[in-house]
Amino acid sequence: MKILAIETSCDETAAAIVEDGVKIITNVVASSHLTHRKYGGIVPEVAARKQVEYMPIILKEALEGHTKDDIDAIAVTHGPGLIGPLLVGVETAKTLAFAWNKPIIPVNHVLAHIYANFIKHSSIAFPAIALVVSGGHTELYLMNDIKTLKWLGGTLDDAAGEAFDKTARLLGFENRGGIAIQESASKFKVGSSKFAVKLPRPLLRDETFNFSFSGLKTAVMREWNKFDHEQQTTNQELISVFAHEIQEAITDVLVSKTIKAAEKYKAKSILLSGGVSANKKLREKFSVHSKQFTVVAPPTELCTDNAAAIAAYAHFRGEKTDWKNIEAKPDLSVEIIDALPQVK
Ligand code: KG4
Ligand code: ZN
Repeated sequence: MKILAIETSCDETAAAIVEDGVKIITNVVASSHLTHRKYGGIVPEVAARKQVEYMPIILKEALEGHTKDDIDAIAVTHGPGLIGPLLVGVETAKTLAFAWNKPIIPVNHVLAHIYANFIKHSSIAFPAIALVVSGGHTELYLMNDIKTLKWLGGTLDDAAGEAFDKTARLLGFENRGGIAIQESASKFKVGSSKFAVKLPRPLLRDETFNFSFSGLKTAVMREWNKFDHEQQTTNQELISVFAHEIQEAITDVLVSKTIKAAEKYKAKSILLSGGVSANKKLREKFSVHSKQFTVVAPPTELCTDNAAAIAAYAHFRGEKTDWKNIEAKPDLSVEIIDALPQVK
């Protein structure tokens, strides 16, 4: 079955054709992130307008060499996300489904991140623990099989990606904070710096599977303000000391909670996903546990927002319905998944 998938939940405009949930035929992504740089964060209205501008181009490229007869169903992210950008994807998908007389499959963006793993790894053993770490979400799930997900916990405030992005801004990096912190942290050599900074590991010893990253930003600010403006803006060594400790604090908590869940539920596999799962340090820390659990993560281009993951979710877990039943749901829950009627 070939699915055409569309993703527009935030600042990426993406379309892909994927066969049987595992074979990527086309996968095209455009991003408006550079446009938002001067504002210090994503501006929803600007993101929505860019979605309108990019959608025809991306769709044309993804469909290159294909006709409507090659497509069996249309999958689309219907939430959670920004209402303006979501509407562009949802209305595009509905129009195509109507014009081509195809079923439509609504997809939960956060859960779809997990399914990027099934594109490249065909034999994942269950039970599995899935960690979704993106710009807007930090969620842990227990998967008993490819369809059955149970939400175990999530962030009480900021997501891990948000913590990377907000602290990166404090250190003087513009957007794409996670990558900037990773790069700066890689320049840090243990024991070689005169600077030292210690940050908290929020909820590390807490019994639940919840996370909290908002306090980290305050802690970074407190430590950072101990240095003068000159040092903050020019001392690369100081910046890399902070970047290293921020990355250590975030990854320590993510790894510890995930391993705790994997041990509790006797998981065989751990599935990482979402933009933050591209982080090299995070992967390195998980690989320490690879004797106990099979740890998998998508290739970098499938960690961040893309439509191939939307198609994979639609294939393995989606419910076909009629285009009339779909609407954008910016607050779609990641804890309870709406059941949709089967198409007749
Ligand atoms: O999944 P994603 O593309 O979009 C959302 O659904 O939010 O994730 C974006 C997040 C951003 O916060 C970005 O800073 C973070 O993923 N990110 C990283 C890395 N690459 C992207 N964080 C840490 N290390 C990375 N290498
Ligand atoms: Zn995402």
